[in-house]
Amino acid sequence: MIVKTDTINSRLENWLNTHQPDKVVVVTSESSFKLCLPKLSIHKKLDNVVYRLPDGDDAKTIEFCQDFWSVMMRNDANRKSVIIAVGGGAVLDFSGFCASVFMRGLACIYVPTTLLSMVDGSEGGKTGINFYGTKNIIGTFSEPNLVLRNIEFLTTLTKNEIFSGWAEILKHGILEGGEIFKQIQGGIKPFSDEDYWINLIRLNIEFKKSITSADFKEKGQRKLLNLGHTFGHGLEALFFEDPNITHGKAVANGIYWETLLALELGFTNEENLRIVENLIFPLYPKIGWNKFQVEEIGNLLMHDKKNENGWIHFTFSKQIGAAEYNIEVAKQRILHFLDKHAEDVESIEDIL
Ligand SMILES: NC(=O)c1ccc[n+]([C@@H]2O[C@H](COP(=O)([O-])OP(=O)(O)OC[C@H]3O[C@@H](n4cnc5c(N)ncnc54)[C@H](O)[C@@H]3O)[C@@H](O)[C@H]2O)c1
Repeated sequence: MIVKTDTINSRLENWLNTHQPDKVVVVTSESSFKLCLPKLSIHKKLDNVVYRLPDGDDAKTIEFCQDFWSVMMRNDANRKSVIIAVGGGAVLDFSGFCASVFMRGLACIYVPTTLLSMVDGSEGGKTGINFYGTKNIIGTFSEPNLVLRNIEFLTTLTKNEIFSGWAEILKHGILEGGEIFKQIQGGIKPFSDEDYWINLIRLNIEFKKSITSADFKEKGQRKLLNLGHTFGHGLEALFFEDPNITHGKAVANGIYWETLLALELGFTNEENLRIVENLIFPLYPKIGWNKFQVEEIGNLLMHDKKNENGWIHFTFSKQIGAAEYNIEVAKQRILHFLDKHAEDVESIEDIL
């Protein structure tokens, strides 16, 4: 649900009055605690427990889960309690996971505060934490009891966070090929254009819901949503020490490189690649790799949990509004592609 600033608190109060939880546990991150929680009336209720996580994926660990569950127990939280997650996708994933297994599941409300979590992470019921260096490897499928999205939260986001969310909107637009695709042609509009953003977020949620409700546990068509993410995760992992290579830039570039690969394998045409390039490169810098990184990025692509036995699984855009999932490409073929498009630098010494 997308709610205006003046109604978010009444919606939240209505839910609490109707369900009468015996304890409210608010989970948030440092930034959302400072910038977003003060805008909510639950902030003023002294009996609420407030659990603060570090910003970003540092929160999605088993250690924080254990600490959080112990706080829940010390505060006598039980099945009649509710967790309210106020934050970006990391806070929602963490809270949704902790709520889904504590006492075999208690109520959870999501208040997403980033663009990415409004259009993606708050929809579709995936929860999870990272473990032994693998993202989201421990988790559950569990839907929140209520989601309240308010675009006013977006005004404090950094440019990088806006571009992260926009990369998922581009992905949805390319897959959907209808109203979302039409709306994103003009690039990123200011958040002061409330009607535009409310409409765009609504369209994105409806699109994601149309896919995930038909395939909740990702046996088939939900894999369409992996567009750009196989290559994107590879690039993100390759440059994990470089703060300039953010998730959004990696995913946007992932969509481009996967579409170029699709073209070379005969799954799409030049025109589709040109449309994809025109959506991505006015906004995101191009991220490539060097010759000496080909083997490493090839291994990183194989490391993805969706891949097995020397084959990498892709979702390819065939044309705007049409994509195909479960396309297996042999690792050797990917290495050839990576080598063909690598910058001509043979070793790290050549750039230092
Ligand atoms: N469950 C799903 O379906 C799903 C889908 C996509 C992504 N994810 C997960 O979501 C996470 C990424 O989500 P994200 O992009 O929201 O990142 P995030 O949660 O790490 O938030 C990004 C940064 O923005 C800060 N922030 C949050 N709200 C803010 C605000 N209003 N103003 C200023 N700063 C604010 C956060 O504290 C953090 O530092 C990853 O862990 C990813 O795995 C989950």
